[in-house]
Amino acid sequence: MNKKHLLTSLIALMSMSVNAQVYLDPNAPLEERVKDALSRMTTHEKVKMLHAQSKFTSAGVPRLGIRQLNMDDGPHGVREELEWNTWSPAKWTNDSIVAFPSLTCLASTWNRDLSEAYGDAVSEEFAFRGKDIMLGPGANIARTPLNGRAFEYMGEDPFLAGEMLVPYIKAAQANGVACCLKHFVLNDQEIDRFTVNVNVSERALHEIYLAPFKRAVEKANVWTIMGSYNLWKGVHCCHNNELLNHILKKDWNWDGALISDWGGTTNTWEAATGGLDIEMGTYTDGKLKESEFGYDDYYLAKPFEKLINEGKVPMSVLDDKVSRVLRTIFRTAMNPNKVIGSQCSEAHYETCRQIAEEGIVLLKNEKSILPLDASKYRKILVVGDNATRSLTKGGGSSELKSLKDISPLEALQSAYGDKIEYVPGYYAGRAIYDRVDPIDPKKQEALKAEALAKAKDADLILFIGGLNKNHRQDCENGDRESYDLSYGQNELISELAKIQKNTIAIIFGGNPYAMPWLDQVSALAHCWYLGSESGTALVNVLSGKVCPSGKLPITFATKYEDFPYVKFGAEAYPGVNKQVYYKEDVFVGYRHFSTNNVKPLFPFGFGLSYTTFSYSQPTVAASGNEVTVTVTVSNTGKVAGKEAVQIYAQAPKSDLERPIKELKGFAKTKLLQPGESETLCVTIPKEELRYFDESQHSWALTSGIYTFHVGANVNDIRGKATASINK
Ligand code: BGC
Repeated sequence: MNKKHLLTSLIALMSMSVNAQVYLDPNAPLEERVKDALSRMTTHEKVKMLHAQSKFTSAGVPRLGIRQLNMDDGPHGVREELEWNTWSPAKWTNDSIVAFPSLTCLASTWNRDLSEAYGDAVSEEFAFRGKDIMLGPGANIARTPLNGRAFEYMGEDPFLAGEMLVPYIKAAQANGVACCLKHFVLNDQEIDRFTVNVNVSERALHEIYLAPFKRAVEKANVWTIMGSYNLWKGVHCCHNNELLNHILKKDWNWDGALISDWGGTTNTWEAATGGLDIEMGTYTDGKLKESEFGYDDYYLAKPFEKLINEGKVPMSVLDDKVSRVLRTIFRTAMNPNKVIGSQCSEAHYETCRQIAEEGIVLLKNEKSILPLDASKYRKILVVGDNATRSLTKGGGSSELKSLKDISPLEALQSAYGDKIEYVPGYYAGRAIYDRVDPIDPKKQEALKAEALAKAKDADLILFIGGLNKNHRQDCENGDRESYDLSYGQNELISELAKIQKNTIAIIFGGNPYAMPWLDQVSALAHCWYLGSESGTALVNVLSGKVCPSGKLPITFATKYEDFPYVKFGAEAYPGVNKQVYYKEDVFVGYRHFSTNNVKPLFPFGFGLSYTTFSYSQPTVAASGNEVTVTVTVSNTGKVAGKEAVQIYAQAPKSDLERPIKELKGFAKTKLLQPGESETLCVTIPKEELRYFDESQHSWALTSGIYTFHVGANVNDIRGKATASINK
C-alpha cells in the first residue's frame, strides 16, 4: 500500500469511527450512547422529545431509530389502554391485568422481599404491555387521614416508606422498566391539589417529606420522578428550580428525567429553566378547544424552541434535558436487557396473594375468635358492600381493569358453602370520578332493616365494609369529608353487634377511621385494598391458613382531633386562600402521638398474630460509621408465624425538639415454627441518626448517648439498649 492509499484508508477509518452509531450499540457505556445520540440531533428533534405526543407517550427520534417512551399508570398494575389522544378507553380486549395490592398494603407487610417481588412482577406486566415507564410507586406522606390518595403511598413514616420503595424500584428497573416515583413533593392532600402552596419548615421538608424520595434516588437510582401539581415557595413543583435543579439534581446528584404530572406545567419560562424534562398532559388554556390545542403548543414545545432559538435559554439547558430523556430511553425502550414480560401469569397472582396476605392487619381478636372454626357456626351472615364491590375500580388514575377480581363473598362461599348468607346492609353508590353518587335514605333504611332482621338468625356476622374508591372516599382529586366511615356503617355495625356478639369487622380502606363500635365487635381486620386475590387472601387469613403478620404503617387515632395538625385549624389543613401551613412540623403521625403522649387507638407498627413472640434483651454494638442492633425473636405460641421487629432511635437531649422515637430500622423474621427462634441483626448507619439543621441548611449529628428501642410496635417496646455515638 502506498502512502496515499494508507492516508485514504486512515481517513476512512477515522470517519467510520466518527460516524459509528455508538448510541445504537447496546454494549457501549450509557453516557457515550447519550452523547453520541445528542450530537446527531437537530434543535427541533431535541425539543420534540421533551413533551407528550399522545396522552401517555413522548417522542423519540424516528430518523435516528431512537424509540419513543411509552408510559402508563401505575402504581398497582398497568392501567387499561386509553385512546392515543383522549382519556377514553381504547377498548382493547387483551389489556386485562393483575391488580396488585395497594401500596399501603405493601408497606404493612414490612417485608422487603415482598416489595422486591412486587416490583418484579408488576414491571413484567408493564413490559409485556410495551410500557417503558410505570407511573408509580408513590412516596407522599400520610399526613392527614382524609387524603384521597393515601392508598397509593406507603404510610406516615419516611424511613419505612423509603426502605420499602428501594427493593421495588430496583427489581422493576432490573427488568428494564423505569419507575416514575410520584408526586415530588408535598402532594399530601387532594383538595386544591393544582393550586395549593405548601408552607413547610426546611427541617420537616427534609426529614419527613423529601426523605423517601431521597432514599429512592440514592439507594435505588430511580430513573424518573413525577413532579407534583401543588406549589412550594409559590412555584409549581413540576418546574420548581430550587426543588428540582438544586435539591434533586445537584445536591442529590440525580441523573434521571423529571416528568410533569399530567397538566402540571403552567409556564414556559419556569418549564424551561426550572428542572422539568418531559411535559405531559397539559390542558388547553381554556380559550382553545382540545382539538385546537396540539402537542406542539405545549410549554416545552414551540414556545421553548423559540426561547432556545433566540438564545434566551442556553443550548446547555436543552442538552441537559435531552440527555436525561435519552438516558431514560437507553435504560428502558432501547435496553437490550429489557424483559419481554408476561401478563396474568400464575406467578404474578401468587405474588399478589402473598402481599395481600401479609399486608392484612389484625387489629383485634377477642377470645381468639379468629382463626375461624367454621364448624362452630350454623349460619354465617356476611354484611357489607365491600364483600361484593370490585375495589380495583374507581379511585382515579390507579383504576385497573383486572382479569380476575376475587371478592370476599366469592371466596367465603367457596370456603364455607351454604353456611354463608349475604345481605348488603347499606348502599355505597357508584364510583364516579368527580362527584358523589346520591344515595336515597329510604333505600338505605330498607337495606339496614333487612340486615338487622337476618342478623337474628345468624350465629356469626362478618361485616365487610369500610372505604371504597368513590369520589370523597379513597379517590384521586378529592379528600374524605370525615374521619368516620360513610353510608351509616358506624350505626349498622353497632346494631349488628348488639344482636350478635360474634361480629367480626373486616374493613377495607387506605386510611384510618374512627371506630365507635370497636368495643362491641369480637375481632377486626384492616385490609387496605388487596387486588385481584382479595377474597382468597382474606379467607386464608380468617381461616388460619395464613397467620397474620401485617403491621400498620400509619397511626389510627381514636378521634380526628388527635391528628397533629388539627388543632392548628384550617390553615394547617386543607389551607386558607390556597396556602396550607404544615404547623405540626416534623411531628407527623406517631412522632406526634408518642412525643406528646396522645394515646392512639392503634399505634404505628401495630398488628396482631395468631401466635405470640418473645424478644431477647437487645444489644447494640457501635463500630465505625454504624451501629448494629441484635435481638432474638422466638415464637412462643402454637402456630407458625412471622414477626416484624421495629427499632426506634431516641436521640440524646439537646436544645432541638426531637420526636421521642423515630423508626431507624426494621426486620421481619422468616416463618417461625412454634418454639423456633431467629436472631435479627439490624445495621443502622450513623448518618440515619442525623437531623436537618436549618441554621446550616444541612444534615447534622448530635453526639451523645442514643437509645435504641426494640419493639413490636412504637408503643410496645420489648427492650432497649444504648450506644454512644460521636460525630
Ligand atoms: C395523577 C398522576 C397520574 C397522571 C396520569 C394525574 O392526574 O396525579 O398520578 O399518573 O394523572 O394519569
